[in-house]
Amino acid sequence: PLVSMRQLLDHAAENGYGIPAFNVNNLEQVQAVMTAADEVGAPVILQASAGARKYAGEPFIKHLIQAALEQWPHIPLAMHQDHGQSPAVCKGAIDLGFSSVMMDGSLEADGKTIASYDYNVRVTREVVEMAHKVGVTVEGELGCLGSLETMRGDKEDGHGTDATMTREQLLTDPEQAADFVERTGVDALAIAIGTSHGAYKFSRKPTGDILAIDRIKEINRRIPNTHLVMHGSSSVPQELLEIIRQHGGQMKETYGVPVEEIQEAIKHGVRKINIDTDIRLAMTGAIRKYMAENPEKFDPRDYLKPAREAARVVCRQRYLEFGCEGRV
Ligand code: G3H
Ligand code: 13P
Ligand code: NA
Ligand code: ZN
Repeated sequence: PLVSMRQLLDHAAENGYGIPAFNVNNLEQVQAVMTAADEVGAPVILQASAGARKYAGEPFIKHLIQAALEQWPHIPLAMHQDHGQSPAVCKGAIDLGFSSVMMDGSLEADGKTIASYDYNVRVTREVVEMAHKVGVTVEGELGCLGSLETMRGDKEDGHGTDATMTREQLLTDPEQAADFVERTGVDALAIAIGTSHGAYKFSRKPTGDILAIDRIKEINRRIPNTHLVMHGSSSVPQELLEIIRQHGGQMKETYGVPVEEIQEAIKHGVRKINIDTDIRLAMTGAIRKYMAENPEKFDPRDYLKPAREAARVVCRQRYLEFGCEGRV
């Protein structure tokens, strides 16, 4: 059934596990996530970005989720708006039937300018008031996602800013987080700890200076009852990069967020872990490989099947690694 994300995150907190939130925009991705969840008995968070809603179109996004609910009625599923850039976007998602929304007030509505703290509080509070009336969960974001190696911001959602920032801007402040949660009433809080979106997160396997797991611990000590969210949490597996490279793709050297660091974060209050890039890498690698090995084939189902299968394998792994097995 469709459930609020709050319900899923509360259960995860009570039982000490984390839930991957997978970005979806098409049929094969939805099927991959749902099949993996069904196999291991995991709860599901499907999330759609503004770009996903635009790519598929509103009716298709809505009915892809409806189809998942119809085919897997026994799986508790939250449908989440990822990176809502304004209260209007969040309202649109609620009207479409989403059970959870993210008001990302870390940037202004243009998606580029770093917002003031007061702006972030105001728009997030507005969304909480609107959403909670109808049982919809709200995720806020405090701090600017971006790299502690380059000290540049992350172009979230392909917009964002790559402006140079200070270490303090790139790390969520625990005191401010407490004030933010109190003033807005958010259910979940996305925090900045050195991760960024996309495949190019780190130039080396990250250590504590560029991936601040300690900051999560400090935030969790200050607001132990708030569910924490990690964005930019793809692990960017080297073997997926290799498959892409071996079949004509160009991927530069890069490192993602190691699964063991996410597991440590889950011990300290992280309940929702956002993953998009790993699914993109898995599908692209599978399609490149299939195309290279079967140049005579032209039925899209022939290459979308291995792509869907590769996505399923990644989703299944993350469900198991984050402790979701047998939770439903
Ligand atoms: O927030 C970023 C997600 O990976 C979604 O990306 O805006 O290209 O759909 P997108
Ligand atoms: P990745 O690009 O690391 O998969 O992060 C996705 C994300 O945070 C979506 O909001
Ligand atoms: Na989100
Ligand atoms: Zn994100």
